[in-house]
Amino acid sequence: MKIWSVTNQKGGVGKTTSAVSLAGAQALLGQRTLLIDLDPQGSLSTYFGINPEKTTESIYEVFTGEQINRKSLTQLIRPTDVDNLFIIPASLRMATLDRKISSIDGKGLVVSHCLEYLTLQFDHIYLDCPPTLGVLMINALAACDHIIVPVQTEFLAVNGLRRMQSTINMIEQSRGFKVDYTIVPTLFDQRTRASMHSLDTLEQDFNDFLSQEIIPVDTTFRDASLAGLPISHYGKRSRGAIAYQNLCIELEKFESVNQKVESI
Ligand SMILES: Nc1ncnc2c1ncn2[C@@H]1O[C@H](COP(=O)(O)OP(=O)(O)OP(=O)(O)O)[C@@H](O)[C@H]1O
Ligand SMILES: [Mg+2]
Repeated sequence: MKIWSVTNQKGGVGKTTSAVSLAGAQALLGQRTLLIDLDPQGSLSTYFGINPEKTTESIYEVFTGEQINRKSLTQLIRPTDVDNLFIIPASLRMATLDRKISSIDGKGLVVSHCLEYLTLQFDHIYLDCPPTLGVLMINALAACDHIIVPVQTEFLAVNGLRRMQSTINMIEQSRGFKVDYTIVPTLFDQRTRASMHSLDTLEQDFNDFLSQEIIPVDTTFRDASLAGLPISHYGKRSRGAIAYQNLCIELEKFESVNQKVESI
């Protein structure tokens, strides 16, 4: 099982779109794939027709519920309309978590511990993060094998990336080893100066961490989200679907991390 965290402290850069699209590409390859919505806004849940304001069974339970075990965790998993693709939704109540559990020991490893129960059930797990550094993002970064950092190709993109890099450094210090990450340029439009300029800057400053694949602007993403389907299952031949399919294959080379962490 590989656990991927889709993370950037900047909002609206394509995190949720990347999580859905990569998970869809994996599902299409026959891989059993789970999406977990760690964003209190619940965009990922909404994408699949689940209302985060109403849902009573969400990933919130693992932070506050009674002792979590394999059975109670499995009850949170819902199927989607796509074969091999499952979701644990978010709940709006997650917005209060930072206040509620900030003083609890081991609060950063809640997700990591509970995902151990799912090792045999899934090939891939994608964690969709909120755009804020808090207990949910820390849990995702502490649990994952690899961090995917979508970056919108626009003028100020690089500034946000430096913040993200220092967060990753902090996590590496807590975990005691390097955590691989890949920066993925998104919403790329080669006709605009902003896109071309920011891609140049990314290549200059972050080349070692940059994906080969660049995700283009594609209106099919909007249509796919309205249909509640990953782009891989809505417009398989669209430019966006092909880009995420290629990215999915490109990221295959990263192995899962076997080291266990005692505390964060
Ligand atoms: N490659 C793309 N082409 C066209 N539209 C896109 C693309 N990627 C994302 N979008 C659109 O941009 C908007 C923001 O994307 P998304 O929700 O994935 O960002 P996010 O980083 O998850 O945002 P947030 O920080 O609010 O969680 C959405 O409306 C989405 O459909
Ligand atoms: Mg999002």
